[in-house]
Amino acid sequence: MHDVLITRRISQAAADALIEAGLSFDVGPDDRAMTRPELLAAVPGRRGVICLLNDQIDDQILAAAGPQCRVFANYAVGYDNIDLPAATRRGILVTNTPEVLTDATADLAFALLLAAARRVVEGDRLVRSGQWTGWAPLQLLGRDPSEATLGLVGAGRIGTAVAHRAAGFRMKILYFDQGDNAELDRAGARRTDLETLLGESDFVSIHLSLSEKTRGLIGAEQLALMKPSACLINTARGPIVDEAALVQALASGRLGGAGLDVYENEPSLAPGLDRLDNVVLLPHLGSATEQTRAKMARLAVANIVAALRGERPPTLVNTEAWPAG
Ligand code: DGY
Repeated sequence: MHDVLITRRISQAAADALIEAGLSFDVGPDDRAMTRPELLAAVPGRRGVICLLNDQIDDQILAAAGPQCRVFANYAVGYDNIDLPAATRRGILVTNTPEVLTDATADLAFALLLAAARRVVEGDRLVRSGQWTGWAPLQLLGRDPSEATLGLVGAGRIGTAVAHRAAGFRMKILYFDQGDNAELDRAGARRTDLETLLGESDFVSIHLSLSEKTRGLIGAEQLALMKPSACLINTARGPIVDEAALVQALASGRLGGAGLDVYENEPSLAPGLDRLDNVVLLPHLGSATEQTRAKMARLAVANIVAALRGERPPTLVNTEAWPAG
């Protein structure tokens, strides 16, 4: 039995770091998500597991891992796939990969914003279709991001990094968050309630983690508050937005556009979403750069190594499980 299970092939940096730390490991089969029966069969006896955001780590999986298991290291900043109270109850440490993916995710949010604003994907489709008849004054007119208002729903690390990118476009920033963000305030941003933000923004970008509080936060009622020309960007978690309501708003022209990297039931889409021209759809690529995925791998392994040495992992999520019993 190897010390560590990596549920699916990740950056080579993980293997290198585990070997350097003298830990043995194996990897889930065929470069695909492990099925639940496979996971249940693979976790018993492990000292640590590197898992992915699409592995559902619930009490049954944690129990199957056994009492010798010290840590589940999620290869993601989000950890809504893990039953934290159950892990804490069982004395299992849970870790994530914050900070190392902030820039990559902010870049992608901004890429979606620009793509949706300037109809980049529609333009690409037109050129490839062979139907393009040349430059035309009224062809695929978009919206200016420059000097527009950007509403950040969530102003933590990634939201703040998006605001930095927006500064280059002289965008006015509104943000909705539990507390003040001094860095954004110094840059002239304004903290508002969600309703004000939705009503005043030309672009709304979501940067919240998924919890019972944020699930369905943006539904039909909230979408109806947005300007008809506005654009919704989501690189956080799909279930924060009611996807069927979004399809309805986009299809009816009630909302100008959207740029999505995440979906309510990945990899499925709400009916009709993929038939809309005014939405840009990406396959959950937020942290998908070579460098970022390598940093995530090194951080996940650093968490595993620390936990197995009895040290506090650098990015521990369930701090109440520390010190370990
Ligand atoms: C995360 O880390 O939570 C992201 O969604 C991965 O791209």
